[in-house]
Amino acid sequence: MSNSASNTSNRVHWGSRMGFVLAAAGSAVGLGNIWKFPYITGVNGGGAFVLVYLACIAAVGIPIFIAELYIGQRAQKNAVEAFEVLHKKGTFWRLPGFLGLASAFIILSFYSVVAGWVLDFEFKSLLNQFAGKTDEEIKGFMGALFANPSRQLVWHFLFMLGTVGIVIGGIQKGIERWARILMPVLFGLLILLIIRVSMEPGFTKALAFLFSPDASKLTAHGILEAVGHSFFTLSLGMGAMITYGSYLRQKESLIQTALIIAFMDTLIALVSGVVIFSVVFSFNLDAGQGPVLMFQTLPMLFNKMSGGYLISNAFFLLVAFAAFTSAVSLLEVVITYWVETHGKDRTKTTLLFGTIIFLLGIPSLLSFNEMANVTL
Ligand code: PFF
Repeated sequence: MSNSASNTSNRVHWGSRMGFVLAAAGSAVGLGNIWKFPYITGVNGGGAFVLVYLACIAAVGIPIFIAELYIGQRAQKNAVEAFEVLHKKGTFWRLPGFLGLASAFIILSFYSVVAGWVLDFEFKSLLNQFAGKTDEEIKGFMGALFANPSRQLVWHFLFMLGTVGIVIGGIQKGIERWARILMPVLFGLLILLIIRVSMEPGFTKALAFLFSPDASKLTAHGILEAVGHSFFTLSLGMGAMITYGSYLRQKESLIQTALIIAFMDTLIALVSGVVIFSVVFSFNLDAGQGPVLMFQTLPMLFNKMSGGYLISNAFFLLVAFAAFTSAVSLLEVVITYWVETHGKDRTKTTLLFGTIIFLLGIPSLLSFNEMANVTL
């Protein structure tokens, strides 16, 4: 503990508390909220799963969220060395830090592939390609994308490029600045969407599906998935919150801010669920269709509703923004560690690790096509 205040004076810090809140919320709110939470809720039968998820957030997620931020804030160090600063140098406490680092690395490699699908759908929205298509044709878009590795590769590359570009800017001029721009737009777009879907016939059914628990639908696997997701959605276990916490000044109070961020994250997941299931029930679709849920259901609605072109672009843009602000936090874990321990240039380090992570993502996107038969 003793050396926790060492070399903090020359460390970069967030420009303002609001900047930190938006950056940390940006990390937490991502594909996990808008893409994954609705689909795993659908697969696990709705309300009872949501209840378990909320309990996990309250009982496990929030305490660990606060703890991670606090470890970073006290230590003023990257996710690996933070434990050593607070404990003793040369102990096995480096290990959890390294595990976090490795997870951030691997997760970003496939996170970027899924984010690439989002960019592809945003591009299709921009070109108005959903217009005039039948529901079956719209469903086919996802299958066609899965079958096309080069198209996925381009989007994966562009997503990593954007992420690297933001991270090169640094804490204040990169991550914080972009969070300040993207997060308010994301909130605005989500409000727009919830107002719009509240006019759809499936809206009340969606509320019932999400908020009236039926315990008989709950499985052991579902409970495990809820626990796992409460970690993922709050960006826990990967050093991201330790890293972001380390850029907070030590005197800054933490608990209330952390609670606000966790609350925002949960609210956005629930609102995204309402949006997506309102569409599912308005069109009598299958709630349990898995990862393709968001990509197959929403364009159907956008296609049929007035102002659909704008809403479709708004939606996929929103998801892309959410994905960028999360991806930068994953990359920052690695960059903060490397720059701090090896004294290397931030730009070169970011380019190097961005490239490695991009390459690491390639097997993920090939797993849908060329390498579909390869299993371990
Ligand atoms: N919390 C992000 C999401 O819900 O999409 C994902 C994530 C970001 C996980 C950063 C872990 C992390 F360190």
